Amino acid sequence: MSADTNSRQVKRLADYQAPDFFIETTDLTFELAADKTLVTAVLQFRRANPNALELRLDGQQLLLLAVHYNERLLQPSEYQCDAQQLRLSVTDDDFKLTIKTEICPQANTALEGLYFANGSFCTQCEAEGFRRITYYLDRPDVLSVFSTTIIADANQYPYLLSNGNKVADRLLAGGQRLVRWQDPFPKPCYLFALVAGDFELRQDQYTTKSGRVVELAFYVEKGQGNKALFALEALKRSMRWDEERFGLEYDLDTYMVVAVDFFNMGAMENKGLNVFNSKYVLVSNNTATDTDFFNVESIIGHEYFHNWTGNRVTCRDWFQLSLKEGLTVFRDQEFSRDMGSATVNRIHAVQVIRTAQFAEDASPMAHPIQPQQVMEMNNFYTVTVYDKGAEVIRMLHTLLGEDGFQAGMRLYVQRHDGQAVTCEHFVQAMQDANHYDLSAFRRWYQQSGTPELRVQRSYDVHKQQLTLTLRQHTPATADQATKLPLVLPIRYQLVDGERSESGLFVMQLQEESLVFTDVSATALPVLLEDFSAPVRLLHDYSEQELLRIAKAASNGFARWDALQSCWMLWLQQYIQQGGAFHLPEALFELYATLLNQPLPDKSLTAELLKVPDYGTFAESFPQIPVDSILAASAAFRLQISEHLSKALLQCYQQHSQAAAEYNEEAVGQRALKNRCLDYLSMHHGDSQTLLEQQYHTASGMTDKLAVLKASLHSEHPVFESLMQHFANEWQQDVLVLDKWFSLHAANPTEQVFDTIAALCQHPKFSWQNPNRVRALFHAFAMQNPGQFHRLDGRGYQLLTQTLLLLDPINPQVAARLVTPLLSWHRYDSERQILIKQALRQLLEKDGISNDLYEKVSKALAG
Ligand code: TRP
Ligand code: ZN
Repeated sequence: MSADTNSRQVKRLADYQAPDFFIETTDLTFELAADKTLVTAVLQFRRANPNALELRLDGQQLLLLAVHYNERLLQPSEYQCDAQQLRLSVTDDDFKLTIKTEICPQANTALEGLYFANGSFCTQCEAEGFRRITYYLDRPDVLSVFSTTIIADANQYPYLLSNGNKVADRLLAGGQRLVRWQDPFPKPCYLFALVAGDFELRQDQYTTKSGRVVELAFYVEKGQGNKALFALEALKRSMRWDEERFGLEYDLDTYMVVAVDFFNMGAMENKGLNVFNSKYVLVSNNTATDTDFFNVESIIGHEYFHNWTGNRVTCRDWFQLSLKEGLTVFRDQEFSRDMGSATVNRIHAVQVIRTAQFAEDASPMAHPIQPQQVMEMNNFYTVTVYDKGAEVIRMLHTLLGEDGFQAGMRLYVQRHDGQAVTCEHFVQAMQDANHYDLSAFRRWYQQSGTPELRVQRSYDVHKQQLTLTLRQHTPATADQATKLPLVLPIRYQLVDGERSESGLFVMQLQEESLVFTDVSATALPVLLEDFSAPVRLLHDYSEQELLRIAKAASNGFARWDALQSCWMLWLQQYIQQGGAFHLPEALFELYATLLNQPLPDKSLTAELLKVPDYGTFAESFPQIPVDSILAASAAFRLQISEHLSKALLQCYQQHSQAAAEYNEEAVGQRALKNRCLDYLSMHHGDSQTLLEQQYHTASGMTDKLAVLKASLHSEHPVFESLMQHFANEWQQDVLVLDKWFSLHAANPTEQVFDTIAALCQHPKFSWQNPNRVRALFHAFAMQNPGQFHRLDGRGYQLLTQTLLLLDPINPQVAARLVTPLLSWHRYDSERQILIKQALRQLLEKDGISNDLYEKVSKALAG
């Protein structure tokens, strides 16, 4: 890579300028070969800015063969071409450029632009990958009507796919085939897609509410067709749901989904031609867990929902990414919620915010949901933009109500269909449709950081009045020193004996009070129900009060949340008292009740019975006491397993007959049973048969994997032999094998280093495949805190050496893996030194990518 492709340039939202030129039509021809693909782009331009004299097209890693201006071949002296741009002077208002470039898809291991992997061609253009295909105005506010001609070997690549409708298909001389596609909807180039390969095809139809028939087509690896059927059904459910809940209907005659093994992210919403990581399409009871099924349904929904929130209405620039992602995550969360256990879905979404998002806000990479400056856009596909973005949309929904929110959505789509807009346009539509002043609310878009909301209670016996004083404060973040008060929608419920009163309090100022009259001295307010604002709630509730909520609240989320607070109290007590600390009898009573009489929602019961994981505990500390958290978690699990062994076993047995299928009841039974198994496995002697029996008679992957996880977690000796068995059984299925890689990487003993070294030599491991790399190293860095944070630095060094090797292959994946090293300031001074040393090693590496450079340099500057 030449030095200037790596220019470390920061782009700012404040510098946005509308495009000088538009591209009205884009006609692409691909002559495909893995080692040498010829791309001919015929672009019809129209001047937008009368003062613009120079046209600057983006391009990266391209070999320029020829440029024609209208019909005239340009001489090299008539344009300038460097590693980033093609520039030429233009005086006409309307003109045509024909640009011929050559690219090498098989050398493209970054998996951005057009790449060749596993025998097929595939594109990934978001965010700025299209410039690796041809010279172009690679920005989302340039919308163009695309036609695509694909020419390739007819035998090797029976399917030649692109966006829109197929308009030509014929054989050419020399065994070549030509297929031509037209997409009637103008779109930015990041939504362009091309796929060529040999697949198994699964088809179906969907009739929209207005009676149009849409052809649905899933293209997956040969022999895997049956594993696409769940995703196909999930697509139909998504289409129906979007019509019913949002009144939005699909617009093209075909909807295609291609599953590929080599993919940087989860999936991509290319117009009419989604490309998916095969992990999020291919599921069967035997090979996929309940979580995998859940993810497939939610990601299928997510990409489908983008057709309106993202594609028909798109982003003006990449700083507006949350316009489509925050909104689409909100939509997919609502979809999942309507399909399964609403409470548990909310719990899982909140866990993402409280662990990963709060951590990001506390890190050197802190940014608002609408980032203000960016070096590498790929680095901003973050849990802040996506998940906090969705929380901001959810707050609008809470403030405006379902009807008001839907009115805002209708106005937004009606006003901006076919446009590239900003987050501001979205908020304005919500405001105008509801005549609701959202001016103060807009701060959520520009302000980073996690607000702290402190509650103080005072009770006036004479007036029988309870006053809550609420104070909000957002601590400074790495990117922003001063913070303003935010609009906080606070859902509350007051539990006072038999009586309960609920409502919504909209806090606007730094300090406000909330008064309840005619209440008893023991009245308990439950605040922030369903996590109605993404803040850290600080209260002084006692263990007894929290347990009262955990036992009695009518809202399942509130019960879970109260228990979470209890766990934080117990962890602090454990840290003060050490091994002498015992969990209170009241907890065992509550747990015994839950085990003997589970709630109707068994998934929720399983959540209530869970000791928070390492990440959840860690996030509550400014400086993370790694060893104490690990010791406490183990002690808590042991105490529960000892005190409740009978009830655990009974509950386990009562829920061991779940149907093999993926449905709410069966998923709940499995979750509950496997929660019990996790505790039971701590008694090594008694649980051996249980573990082996469940493993060998399991009706599906959920139950199998649960055994492996439980035995790993409790360091049960049966782990090794079952892992061996598992490897033999699943040799050929890489998606299943990824689970096995991850389990090995989470091994809490020092053995893990030799194991990982050996697994890198495994015939199915490949540094080129992001799923394999993540299965091993993401699992190591995130699910093995004991070994990752070793005081001899071996864990940090393993990740660092991995990143040095991976960065030249796939910088996008490398930059995601570096995340745990960025938060060095959250550890003790010994670990800080080790982590900073690792970061410096990365920074000193010659030719380090922009992706890694942006993160590592920020971390070291902080
Ligand atoms: N737009 C995709 C989504 O969220 C995200 C995505 C897929 C992506 N592949 C990518 C983002 C590659 C950046 C780079 O649905
Ligand atoms: Zn998305």
